[in-house]
Amino acid sequence: MLRGSTLFPMQYQVLARKWRPQTFQEIVGQEHVSRTLLNALKSDRLAHAFLFSGPRGCGKTSTARILAKALNCHEDKTGEPCGKCASCTEITAGNCIDVIEIDAASNTGVDNVRQLIEQARYQPARDRHKIFIIDEVHMLSNAAFSALLKTLEEPPAHVAFIMATTEFHKIPATILSRCQQYSFRLIPYPRILDQLKMISKAEKIEISEAALEQVVFSGGGSLRDAMSALDQVVAFSGTRVKDDDVAILLGLIEPRILSRIVKAIANNDAATILGQVGELVEAGQDLKGFCRTLLSQFRHLVVLKAGIADPALLGIPETLLPDLRDQAALFSKEDLLRLFETILKIDSSMRNATQIRFLLEMGLIELAYVARLKSIEDLIAEFSSLSDDSELTQSRNSPDMNIATAPSSHASRKEPANPPGERIEKKSPEKLIGQKSKNISSSQNLRSQSMSASEPGRTSKDLLHEIASNTGREALDSLIQGLDGARLEEDKVILELGSANEFLRRQIKENLAVIEQAASAFVGKSVSVLLEEPSNPPQNSAKPQNSSDSDPEENLLEKAKREPIVQSFLDIFPGQVKAEKIDP
Ligand SMILES: Nc1ncnc2c1ncn2[C@@H]1O[C@H](COP(=O)(O)OP(=O)(O)OP(=O)(O)O)[C@@H](O)[C@H]1O
Ligand SMILES: [Mg+2]
Ligand SMILES: [Zn+2]
Repeated sequence: MLRGSTLFPMQYQVLARKWRPQTFQEIVGQEHVSRTLLNALKSDRLAHAFLFSGPRGCGKTSTARILAKALNCHEDKTGEPCGKCASCTEITAGNCIDVIEIDAASNTGVDNVRQLIEQARYQPARDRHKIFIIDEVHMLSNAAFSALLKTLEEPPAHVAFIMATTEFHKIPATILSRCQQYSFRLIPYPRILDQLKMISKAEKIEISEAALEQVVFSGGGSLRDAMSALDQVVAFSGTRVKDDDVAILLGLIEPRILSRIVKAIANNDAATILGQVGELVEAGQDLKGFCRTLLSQFRHLVVLKAGIADPALLGIPETLLPDLRDQAALFSKEDLLRLFETILKIDSSMRNATQIRFLLEMGLIELAYVARLKSIEDLIAEFSSLSDDSELTQSRNSPDMNIATAPSSHASRKEPANPPGERIEKKSPEKLIGQKSKNISSSQNLRSQSMSASEPGRTSKDLLHEIASNTGREALDSLIQGLDGARLEEDKVILELGSANEFLRRQIKENLAVIEQAASAFVGKSVSVLLEEPSNPPQNSAKPQNSSDSDPEENLLEKAKREPIVQSFLDIFPGQVKAEKIDP
């Protein structure tokens, strides 16, 4: 597997070590720290204790060593260490007697600190300062911290402590108040990318920018991790890196594949999802890793939806932001949260399973359903429209029985009509009924096929189905079926958007021309398609207009829907809640 390994000399030095910055200027992305330290060095306003905190692999230890060199450099001061004097070269090599570096993670006890303090009492052997670099200082025990505190309170003039930690919150306040604090940041992706480009060039590594972006991405804002990823890639591919190798090796799912899957979920497109899983399996991808990547993708989408679009906070390269925005627009916030939870469930179910491929496939298909799982309000709204339809069936013998298209969306029933000509229409029931009688005469000249859609008892859903299947496009067909209903009014077909989500609305709007064609073909003459927004927000329109609060059946259904058991059932088995009356 290590096909590139023969290209390397025996003592291959990992990139992170080889490219450890040696001057303040070489530290990438922490200018706020370097500048302050340089200024303090130049003006000799230095503390005896420093605390460097921040995420892993962002330059804390490197900066601590540079500061140690700067403090003891034998050359004249510009702030930067010369890198050539005995002190500088020894510190770089890690064998300077006056610079003591300890890892608190493996020296947590009070005795270790006592030894250290003991050493601090002696004058430096050669250089100006005796410097203690304490890495992972948060690992010290309470007793060790107290012992350290005493020395920090009255440090000997020749001593400097440079402490580093990834867990700032674990440092006692008493210690913090005695240190000059510097907080390191995650390094912006473009800076890491530039650094890796520079390094690949110097190391004669041929790698595409896209592949390098993947490497940067896998580092999550840590330059060290990005460099280690590059090490891995080069060890695998040699110095000519193929794009595919990078994705496989780093267990990364390419952004375009993720994007395809997210869109397939939004489209309820199970075929694409399964096909994509098949490809991942063929490419030898780790499916558990893929599931985690998908989880983090949905985390990004939720964060974006919450209005946070800072690539650093999102933890993504800036170049991915536009596509990610498009993906987020496909869902409502509630959908995204639901999807995230479902993926979380898939992830934990896969953890100890053997048939992980099947689990993943079934989970992803469920996701496609979760995406269109409706809220209780929508369900109630649908129920209301059902009861409208049944009212209609019952009143078939009334003068209005020939109504071509029954209003299925109760939501459209309360508001007065909009001025004519408006693209998005809102109609009151009275208005609709009035119009319907007109429709009957105007629809006399329709083809017999279309007449069948206006047969008594045919609902607005029927017309919708006919138009949908007439588009001849499977994806669009199922999208249109997701709408509330359709009505024919003279030379207009009105699509009832009802509770359609943002994605659905957009798709319908984008495909209006095709839908118009399909509708015209069905009706037998040229019709225009209008979109009708519900006149009331779904929660206000949860009740059919003519059902009173005291309607016992409706109240029962509502109550049933509020039951936690019903809600959790809906979580697992997406579907509609219908009223079923069992006569005693
Ligand atoms: N800001 C940076 N500028 C340049 N190189 C960096 C930077 N941060 C990390 N590196 C690279 O990563 C390597 C490791 O960095 P360093 O040990 O300084 O990180 P750290 O913050 O101490 O990490 P940890 O918290 O894991 O100890 C360095 O040798 C260097 O190659
Ligand atoms: Mg470190
Ligand atoms: Zn020097």
